[in-house]
Amino acid sequence: MRTSLNASGDDGSGAQPLIELERLADGGFAEVEATIDGDAESLLLYRDGDAVRAWLNICPHAGRRLDWAPGQFLKSKDGLLVCAAHGASFELGGGECVAGPCRGEALRAVAVDVRDGGVWLA
Ligand code: FES
Repeated sequence: MRTSLNASGDDGSGAQPLIELERLADGGFAEVEATIDGDAESLLLYRDGDAVRAWLNICPHAGRRLDWAPGQFLKSKDGLLVCAAHGASFELGGGECVAGPCRGEALRAVAVDVRDGGVWLA
């Protein structure tokens, strides 16, 4: 899933959520655009029950996006996020690369909150 709710000149100060929680399936991913420190960034969101974690959509291996098409992320059968470029695998608790070319590195976390039925930059 992909949304650009926050891409219309919003400064990220919280006028709109990044995404409504109900649009994010439990165990599923979404890609959203957000302004972070003045820069437009693509974020990867992952829902785990009532919690949502977010990381920059940038692989630590070669800096490519993790999705193979906007908002389309690969998940292995053992529950790892797999980078579409060269197959690095990331655990979804802390975003650490556990297999592949950047093993031991980690995705860059972005703080988000879940409130009022939406996911917001913290
Ligand atoms: S850029 Fe992700 S594995 Fe190479």
